Amino acid sequence: MIPRHDPHLKAFASDNYAGVHPEILQAIATANGGHQIAYGEDAYTEALQDVFRRHFGEQAQAWPVFNGTAANVVSLRAMTRPWEAVICAESAHINTDEGGAPEVTAGIKLLPVPTPDGKLTPELVDRQAWGFGDVHRAQPRVVSVSNTTELGTLYTPDELGALCAHAHERGLLVHLDGSRLTNAAAALDVPLRALTTDAGVDVLSFGGTKIGLLYGEAVVVLNPEAASGVDYIRKTFMQLSSKMRFVSAQFEALLAGDLWLRNARQANAMGRRLADAVRDIPGVVLPRPVEANAVFAVLPPDVTERLQKRFRFYTWNEATGEVRWMCAFDTTEADVDAFAAAVAEEMAASAG
Ligand SMILES: Cc1ncc(COP(=O)(O)O)c(C=O)c1O
Repeated sequence: MIPRHDPHLKAFASDNYAGVHPEILQAIATANGGHQIAYGEDAYTEALQDVFRRHFGEQAQAWPVFNGTAANVVSLRAMTRPWEAVICAESAHINTDEGGAPEVTAGIKLLPVPTPDGKLTPELVDRQAWGFGDVHRAQPRVVSVSNTTELGTLYTPDELGALCAHAHERGLLVHLDGSRLTNAAAALDVPLRALTTDAGVDVLSFGGTKIGLLYGEAVVVLNPEAASGVDYIRKTFMQLSSKMRFVSAQFEALLAGDLWLRNARQANAMGRRLADAVRDIPGVVLPRPVEANAVFAVLPPDVTERLQKRFRFYTWNEATGEVRWMCAFDTTEADVDAFAAAVAEEMAASAG
């Protein structure tokens, strides 16, 4: 087959635009051949549990699913009963970018809270953690946070620890959308468990796709008392992969050694490089801290329009002119430098 795209062309739209890391492709090839029991009773899925336990502790149990929306929906369904609700940041992916899946497919009421930077704090949680015992109000049961957040910001282990302690005191469980957990851990130079198990997180959606997998995310239950029925819910929600060995083999390749860390460090380093390269271009404003692999910028609309003809990236907020640039595990220094040069050219053309 001939390639139908330019394999050298990089975008700054999303870490999902990247391809598959060669070590992951190799793991898929290694898992191929012969027959294995379908639906998760294969040798790779069995080995996967050990790999997750090494990162997240002896209690951890992982259920591979197809995508991040599903990991969130299955996690939250397993943590709540029909009358219970989930507190989240207004900007949370579950609230803004999942097509209403938590509400539509799982029937879960979301209780969003506006935040300045995508992060919940104990005080912000309390804006929605009320009405316990009131039959008229969906009962708050889970606090869901994302790390990194949708606005590219990070929770530190201490911030997460304080948030989890506060939630637990209020009788709430904590779910972490870890679609980019590897980026957060690499940026903070801490193990994955420092931002999850050790901080008190109960259930994790662990991201693989954005960090080099072909596809695959996992529901990881860290506190067995916090979720029930995940086996059944995963099937009911159409997430039980018959050829699960290929998802599990990818996770093993990502997590058994340091591939997750190498990939996350590269993506984050490219985020920093891009921020440093554009920060001083006259007229470019970086309105948010660059803490991992996402860079947000405010540009004049004509510059965005011309730049988007050269490189793919998303407008984050039409009203303010804010755009988002995302670096991936395979973004190189040359990619960043070429993009930053294009930003400088288009800004100069606009000024002139
Ligand atoms: C914070 C966050 N959570 C979850 C997801 C997973 O979404 P998907 O269902 O597209 O894999 C994404 C993807 O963009 C995300 O940014």
